[in-house]
Parts: sequence; C-alpha cells; structure tokens
Amino acid sequence: MVQISPSILSADFGSLKEEILKLEKGGADYIHLDVMDGTYVPNITFGSPVIKKLRNITDIPFDVHLMIDRPERYIKDFVDAGADIITVHQEATTHLHRTIEEIKSYGIKVGVSLNPATSLDTIEYVLDYIDLVLIMTVNPGFGGQKFIGSMKRKIKKLRNMVDDKNLDILIEADGGIKLDNAKEIIDYGLDIVVVGSGIFEAKNITERTKIFKSL
Ligand code: DX5
Ligand code: ZN
Repeated sequence: MVQISPSILSADFGSLKEEILKLEKGGADYIHLDVMDGTYVPNITFGSPVIKKLRNITDIPFDVHLMIDRPERYIKDFVDAGADIITVHQEATTHLHRTIEEIKSYGIKVGVSLNPATSLDTIEYVLDYIDLVLIMTVNPGFGGQKFIGSMKRKIKKLRNMVDDKNLDILIEADGGIKLDNAKEIIDYGLDIVVVGSGIFEAKNITERTKIFKSL
C-alpha cells in the first residue's frame, strides 16, 4: 500500500501545530517538510529551528526535502532538528556521494531528488547507497502547480530499474498530485506520495488525508 507524506507547504503557517495534528489524525505516514533557500529555488520557507520546534508536536517521521544550494553545509542542523529522512537534490550538491555518506553517518535515511528535466542516469551510480528517490513532478519551489505528464514515464522507468536490480529503495513523487490523478500516478510504481494543496485545499484535512491513504 502507498504511504502518504503530506506537505505542510500549503498549511496555515500560523497554526502549524493544529495542522500537523489534523494530519496525524488522518493517518499520515510522514510529514513532508519543504525547506527552500531562495537560491536553489525561487522561494523561501523555513529552516532547522522551525523543524526542531515542530518535532515536539508529533512522533510521525519527518521527511525533510532540502531545496537548498550546497545542502552539505546544513546536514547536521537538520539531523539535530529531528529529521528521519533527509532528501537532497542531485543538482544542488557537487559531491553527491559524499553528501549521501554524511547523511547516512548520522543513522538516518537518505534520499536524492531529481528535478523534472534531470535524467535518472545521473543517480545510477549512487542507487546502491540511498534509501529513497524523490521524483519531482513539478518544478520545485511552489505548491499548487500542475503535474508534468512525462514524469509518469520517469516513475515507471525508475520502478523498473529498482525492481530489476532488486534494490531496497523507496520511490516518492512530489508535486501536482491531487485526488483526480493520484491513483493513476501511484500505479506507475510509487511507494510514497507527497500531497500539499491536494490536502490543504480540503475543508476537512483529516478526512482528505484518510482518502489519500485509502488509494
Ligand atoms: C514543491 C514542494 C512540494 C509541494 C507540493 O517544490 O517540494 O512538496 O508542497 O505541493 P502540491 O502538492 O500542491 O503540488
Ligand atoms: Zn517537497
């Protein structure tokens, strides 16, 4: 069954505690935390001090998506803040393997994310060392964008690569996933689905989370 990682990017930032508790009630498997630096992506959100405070609210694993340039500078901060998974962008770090090894050295899970235009070939030689691949299905930076159709092929291709090589890797997709397209996208081979506006646009966030979980 697919796991759900609601992104709080579209939540009410003035009431994050209440918003997270609604997701918890809905059975969220992870909380997806989008960290943006205004350089790697054209938007700024929050950093490790906010995540550290949110850590007191729930025991749900924190799925931290770093959309920041040279993330290697801040790995320890996000580990100390309570991240359970840290995902970095292939495009944002020059020595990807070194960054992966650093994240793993803290005993947490490591993911690598790819922008829509980045080929799966760019991570071929690190697949043996990571726990998760995050396929961006929109250009990162904002919630509420439209799913990019060619990403269906990318998810399927990665699913085949992972299955053929018998790798222990979770496949996650992020961006533009809504009630009306989630089932189809999941069926291309996802283990984890990130949903932002598709949950927070609902009147009842807990119920909407449950619906995504049941897909
Ligand atoms: C976008 C973020 C996503 C975002 C998804 O750069 O990485 O996690 O919150 O939002 P939706 O689901 O609204 O596309
Ligand atoms: Zn994200």
